[in-house]
Amino acid sequence: MFPDFASAPACVSCHNQHIQSQKKDWELNDVMGATTWTYPKDSLTTDEVIEIVKVFRESAEKTYEDYLKEVQNFKRTEIPLIGEKWPEDGYFLPTKEIWSQQMNQLTAPYFVQSLMAYNEK
Ligand code: HEC
Repeated sequence: MFPDFASAPACVSCHNQHIQSQKKDWELNDVMGATTWTYPKDSLTTDEVIEIVKVFRESAEKTYEDYLKEVQNFKRTEIPLIGEKWPEDGYFLPTKEIWSQQMNQLTAPYFVQSLMAYNEK
């Protein structure tokens, strides 16, 4: 079981503003709850680790794909332009392909770091 910290300003602001929230004085780094994570084995093979990273990447990409669909239904604001212009300043979003590439590049060091730390145990 792990403590679930208010690690980002968004945790605090949403929880303090949400109508269903029973506590409105959360601060950054407060323990907001507890998280449990279970996996049926105490260690993983290299193939299993690769499979987990692959599933993570696919699910993150699917989430962004769904977001791009949702953006097409924006009513209160203009629909952002998807593609060519990103990452220029302005109301632009990257394509799914570019987004995935960026996400993979940004998350790769963390996967490697975690694997190395695990290996040193
Ligand atoms: C956009 C709003 C929003 C953001 C951002 C958000 N939460 Fe929440 N959170 C909620 C709502 C709404 C619930 C209640 C959901 C439910 O019970 O079905 C909830 C539930 C929780 C719970 C479970 C509380 C309980 O009593 O069961 C914890 C713990 C929690 N959030 C922690 C966090 C943390 C940590 C972050 C940031 C990393 C975060 N939340 C970001 C809206 C948000």
